[in-house]
Amino acid sequence: MSLRVRLNLLVAALNLGFLAALTWILIDNHRNSIQEEIEAAHRVAVQMLGTAAQTSPVFGPAPVVMVGFLQSLGRVRANEISLYTADGVRRYSSPPSAYKAGRNAPEWFAVLMRPTQETTVIGLQGARIEIVPDASRAILDAWDSMTSIFLLGLAFVAVLHAALLLFLRHLLRPTEADAIRLVATTQQLAENREVTRLIQAGVEEERKRLARELHDELGQTVTAIRLIATSIARSVEGDKAAGPASGARKINEIAAGLYDSVHRIVRELRPAVLEQPDLAAALADLGREWRVRHPDIELTMTLEGDLGDLGEGLTLAVFRTVQEALTNVLKHAGASMVGLSVATRDGYLEAAIEDDGHGATEVLTRAGVGLVGMRERVAALGGRLEAGPRPDRGFRVRIVLPLPGGSE
Ligand SMILES: Nc1ncnc2c1ncn2[C@@H]1O[C@H](COP(=O)(O)OP(=O)(O)O)[C@@H](O)[C@H]1O
Ligand SMILES: [Mg+2]
Repeated sequence: MSLRVRLNLLVAALNLGFLAALTWILIDNHRNSIQEEIEAAHRVAVQMLGTAAQTSPVFGPAPVVMVGFLQSLGRVRANEISLYTADGVRRYSSPPSAYKAGRNAPEWFAVLMRPTQETTVIGLQGARIEIVPDASRAILDAWDSMTSIFLLGLAFVAVLHAALLLFLRHLLRPTEADAIRLVATTQQLAENREVTRLIQAGVEEERKRLARELHDELGQTVTAIRLIATSIARSVEGDKAAGPASGARKINEIAAGLYDSVHRIVRELRPAVLEQPDLAAALADLGREWRVRHPDIELTMTLEGDLGDLGEGLTLAVFRTVQEALTNVLKHAGASMVGLSVATRDGYLEAAIEDDGHGATEVLTRAGVGLVGMRERVAALGGRLEAGPRPDRGFRVRIVLPLPGGSE
């Protein structure tokens, strides 16, 4: 639920509570005052008519005198006054109230507010007067005043809600400063990625140069040493004492070893296949070399989709990630099997390296080395890298990268 909706609900609940309390207080007040008013009016009428009843016989037959008196009296506040003869015929009844004539409060409200005052009967000679309390005008007054207060309250609540909505809309709208900050942050992020990409490109360029230097300079020098050592060995071959010959052979052996090492370093720095970026070929090459050098850790490889033409940036990123993950398997995993799978589908490339070792024991947070570097490299190309222990055993590194021109 959004903040705006929550605030509105809260205010609505408070308002409803307030209206309910207000209604209760009004009902209670009005009921008390109606009770009070009707009792007082009744008392006045009863007293007045009681006195009149006592004195009326002096002036003649009670019913006749009283009817005349009642007619001149008219209505006595909130009371209906009637006179009945001894045989039950009504001889008089007070006129209806002209106040708000023809209107009444709803029945349920009248029931709620009705006072407890009882009818009073005054006995005369040969007649009786009935004084019936009539609260209907007072109740209608209470109804009118309460509905207007209630409507006013409702209007107030509506205005309050509208104001709150407007205020919240204004308050929660992102300010211009927010927008500027957002744009700046987005730009910064894009720039950071660009910098990472440039750094990676620079690193690759530097590796290429180093590989070339090693190959051209060191490689040629070592080859020259070997040639010379071989020719020395040949020239002194006749001499079986063989001091120089065996020395020369040793030089040759050492130089051959050196040559192999240089070649290995060169290949690692810049695998020949990467000169034309073909990921399938580069990975196949990596796999062959792994099987020769680490026959005790079984490598299975699954390559799916067209990996031959992904462009240099993507090919290098995947290749270096696989290289790093495989090196980690050697360094950290203690595994007996490692699986590499690379596939392209739906505009994405997905690669996973999984081993059956003992999994990670420390958190992968050191910046700039290994997987963190790979994560940045992959992110610079719009992809993501996940690395962590597998649920059963071992460790898994997985990358997903958008393909150029893919459905990103
Ligand atoms: N295959 C793996 N098996 C177990 N732990 C691993 C594996 N790969 C990585 N790790 C853990 O993740 C950490 C970070 O790896 P990495 O970023 O490559 O740094 P480094 O290899 O320099 O230690 C490693 O130190 C290791 O603890
Ligand atoms: Mg590592």
